Amino acid sequence: MNVPLLDLKAQYEAVKDEITPAIMEVVESQHFILGPKVVALEERVAAYSDASWGIGVTSGSDALLVALMALDVGPGDFVVTTPYTFFATAGAIARLGATPVFVDIDPRTYNIDASKIEAATAGYPKERVKAIIPVHLFGQCCDMAAVMEISRDLGMAVIEDAAQAIGAKDKEGRPAGSIGDVGCFSFFPSKNLGCFGDGGMVVTSDEALKDRITILRAHGSKPKYYHRIIGGNFRLDAIQAAVLLVKLGHLEAWSNKRRENAGLYERLLSDAGLPVTLPHVEPGCRHIYNQFVVRAKDRDALMAHLKGNGIGTEVYYPLPLHLQECFKYLGHKEGDFPESESAARDTFALPIYPELTHEMIEYVVDQVKGFYSQRGTRNAA
Ligand SMILES: Cc1ncc(COP(=O)(O)O)c(C=O)c1O
Repeated sequence: MNVPLLDLKAQYEAVKDEITPAIMEVVESQHFILGPKVVALEERVAAYSDASWGIGVTSGSDALLVALMALDVGPGDFVVTTPYTFFATAGAIARLGATPVFVDIDPRTYNIDASKIEAATAGYPKERVKAIIPVHLFGQCCDMAAVMEISRDLGMAVIEDAAQAIGAKDKEGRPAGSIGDVGCFSFFPSKNLGCFGDGGMVVTSDEALKDRITILRAHGSKPKYYHRIIGGNFRLDAIQAAVLLVKLGHLEAWSNKRRENAGLYERLLSDAGLPVTLPHVEPGCRHIYNQFVVRAKDRDALMAHLKGNGIGTEVYYPLPLHLQECFKYLGHKEGDFPESESAARDTFALPIYPELTHEMIEYVVDQVKGFYSQRGTRNAA
């Protein structure tokens, strides 16, 4: 059997008849940049995320960049984040000339360990540690109550990197993106809500930030052709908004299906006595499983076995950011963030997309079991 890590064609088949006319409407209008579709999407994503405003942008990476720009982050500033995330999180900080200050993760959720934030910032001038970017990795919110408390104490703005977490909720039931000052979403095709190219959105309930981000999105222009600040071209295009408006109508059902799939994996894997640690869901959180990431003994050999049996997997992420060559100047070394390093060594993602059948999940589980029984390995990883 073939079980890819993700099958976007299966999703497309289900929504094709709704999407084609929506795209054609934009084509007929010849209104390709911003416009009514983008405004409608901004309103719907803001409402879905319990925020007052949405600002459609070119990608999740640009959502982070423009949010940092709006907060005036620049050379000489420090921004706290996790080294165990997609590159864009720290890349946005460094591109503005600011310095990422890494804090290790909680080994169970893979999200930033809030109890380590204060110590990590202690060596820097307080007024220059301007912001923190907690990342809701794989679709589960960080401990936002703790992150918000410490951030307010330290005077840091909070930019939620919710690129992987649209529709997730924290322990207090708050939607990802609505808790900090600004939330950033990615609509990269593999996300729970993905478009037909690159796209992203910033959400906020702070009117001044909304105004500033809106101006920065169009080269800082206000009124048109007059620039008091320097921005960029971060505008979302209307065809992507048309696709996303259709898909947004299905998002809850798709995320619930991912949650059901996760439940099935858990039922089938948890009693098997395998050295595989399943995702830990914090009580009260709504995990939307953009990825289903497990920690496994002999990870690389297991992945090779699954690949040999037609199953797609991926490591998110093989090298934590503090060890990336481009961040050598930060002076980190192996061992600085041991939980991130251990997660990079031992974890990998299994297929979780909504269109998976029970049969496919059972097949994946059988292959995992087969691998360990060949090796005679049991017990927890
Ligand atoms: C945690 C995280 N942050 C930021 C991004 C950047 O989003 P995009 O690919 O839309 O630029 C991603 C995308 O994978 C992500 O996973």
